[in-house]
Amino acid sequence: MSKADMNAVRFDTQAIHAGYHRDSDFGALATPIYQTSTFTFTSADHAMGVFAGEIPGYDYTRAGNPTVSVFEEKIAHLEGGEAAISTASGMGAISSTLLGLLKMGDHIVCGNTVYGCTDVVMREILPDFGITATFVDTADAAAVEAAIQDNTKIIYFETPANPTMHVTDIAAIAALKEKHPGIRIVVDNTFAPPPVQQPLKLGADIVVHSVTKYINGHGDVIGGVAIGSKDDIALIKGRAMGKMTGTPLTPFCAYLIIRGMKTLGLRVRQHCANAMAMAEYLEKSPYVEKVYYPGLESMGKDHEVAKKQMNGMYGAIISFVLKDGINGMSAFDAGKKLMDNLTIPAIAVSLGDPDSLIQHPASMTHVRVPKDVREQVGITDGMLRFSVGLEEIEDLIADFDQAFAAL
Ligand SMILES: Cc1ncc(COP(=O)(O)O)c(C=O)c1O
Repeated sequence: MSKADMNAVRFDTQAIHAGYHRDSDFGALATPIYQTSTFTFTSADHAMGVFAGEIPGYDYTRAGNPTVSVFEEKIAHLEGGEAAISTASGMGAISSTLLGLLKMGDHIVCGNTVYGCTDVVMREILPDFGITATFVDTADAAAVEAAIQDNTKIIYFETPANPTMHVTDIAAIAALKEKHPGIRIVVDNTFAPPPVQQPLKLGADIVVHSVTKYINGHGDVIGGVAIGSKDDIALIKGRAMGKMTGTPLTPFCAYLIIRGMKTLGLRVRQHCANAMAMAEYLEKSPYVEKVYYPGLESMGKDHEVAKKQMNGMYGAIISFVLKDGINGMSAFDAGKKLMDNLTIPAIAVSLGDPDSLIQHPASMTHVRVPKDVREQVGITDGMLRFSVGLEEIEDLIADFDQAFAAL
């Protein structure tokens, strides 16, 4: 770490410097990869002291590793949290947070539009362990409050939500804690990483991320993280991750993520600028029925709330539906053909990479969500989800021009 006080410097400076206390052996500028499963001790007393938590240090990489710690400290700074615990995937962070904080008999109020695997965990897996969920539109704080039961321990949501880009007012949900103390607000911030949105500053208790996406930002790592207070992170760490069920991030992945994070602000700002231009282009297109992007005024209340809580940027995921009847095709068939016609975006799930990616939620990311549930929240068969990359925006628009013309 540079000598600067990380609490006194701005976002991009933190992204580069926070967390790394420069290697004392050789002064390496880049964070070394501590590729080791176990750690040695200078004496039996030293070993006992580290295991007892009385002497700072590491004992075994499942429970902690210096490279991994640099990432955790860095992301905690950028999200404005006290501590972070990383995992082998975003789903690892989500399931570990839930397992760490809940027990049999507890209840979750869950946003009705969440990533497909999160939906499966909430709807199919947790009930087998005696933990139930009620699904509501979390943009409606009154509906959330009405769903709270005596045993509700967590309100969980994504904003913007995957893939409808529906926006939840984080501060409005956090305000419910006044009347319902003891409930934690958990926000999946994958679609709006800092500097776009910092839910802890708006009253959320825990932020989870698929680090696989913007935070690593290069499409070459699977990782996850949960960020919150020291006490909550210690609970999650002690009960569900690290030493216990064991889904740690590897030192090599942590190294790649640290490397990617040095340009997080730069990348995310450009992603968002590209996405805004692309959303405006799609909205004007005669081939497009509807565009879902919180930066557009046509999103109504979603846009108003996004303006308030998303730091003047709106993320870089756009969902859209083509018109029915283009050359006699349904919106679904036209969407498939459009995906095939595009030459720059790859057909792939995931998001937040420099490469633009396009996918069909109903048959790909959200295929395990029951069809009636999908339709109820607006994940129609015609919807496509586009992760706007860092290619030149003129090239992306020219590619869409040719792909539409060839429908
Ligand atoms: C919003 C959201 N949360 C969580 C995840 C899961 O992350 P991972 O694939 O890293 O497990 C995803 C993956 O696409 C996602 O989009």
